[in-house]
Amino acid sequence: MKTLILFYSRTGTTQVIANALATALDATIARIECPKYKGGWFRYLLAGYDSVKGRLPPIDVPDLVFRDYDAIILGTPIWTSYPALPMRSFLSGKPDLPDRVSLFLTYGGHSVPQKAEQFISDLIPVNLEATLNLGQKTVIDEAFSEPVANFAQQLKSGH
Ligand SMILES: Cc1cc2nc3c(=O)[nH]c(=O)nc-3n(C[C@H](O)[C@H](O)[C@H](O)COP(=O)(O)O)c2cc1C
Repeated sequence: MKTLILFYSRTGTTQVIANALATALDATIARIECPKYKGGWFRYLLAGYDSVKGRLPPIDVPDLVFRDYDAIILGTPIWTSYPALPMRSFLSGKPDLPDRVSLFLTYGGHSVPQKAEQFISDLIPVNLEATLNLGQKTVIDEAFSEPVANFAQQLKSGH
């Protein structure tokens, strides 16, 4: 099975999970870049402000044919209760995705991830096959191996 993990990460948390999943699933990994929000406090505030306004930023997406993969796993942090803007920019472009789409989210802890999940669901034409939500503390404490393994297993057995 050919699986693609496509993620956005501003400060590296989501990237840790993307890497762990790539290893567990022997998947290809690719990153959405968004120079607008790279950097310190000012960029953090700008990201929050734009997120509240729903102002979608320009992004750089790796030149891949998503349909060539059997499954895609999208990974993004939560910003102001919604998926981070760069992932929203990507999905708003209505990319031609494989039929199997899964999602993982990382978040600081004060959000209900189901709201961000629903937001992604509404942007894609298929039902999410599997979802994984991880609080940032779980990632920092490296306490994610079991949930990551369960999520990977769910995807493997779904084939
Ligand atoms: C602009 C901004 C808004 C955020 N809003 C929320 C939020 O509403 N709820 C939450 O639980 N965490 C929120 N966070 C925290 C991030 O979701 C969390 O730190 C995430 O793991 C960061 O992922 P990354 O390191 O891959 O960028 C926010 C972070 C940023 C930068």
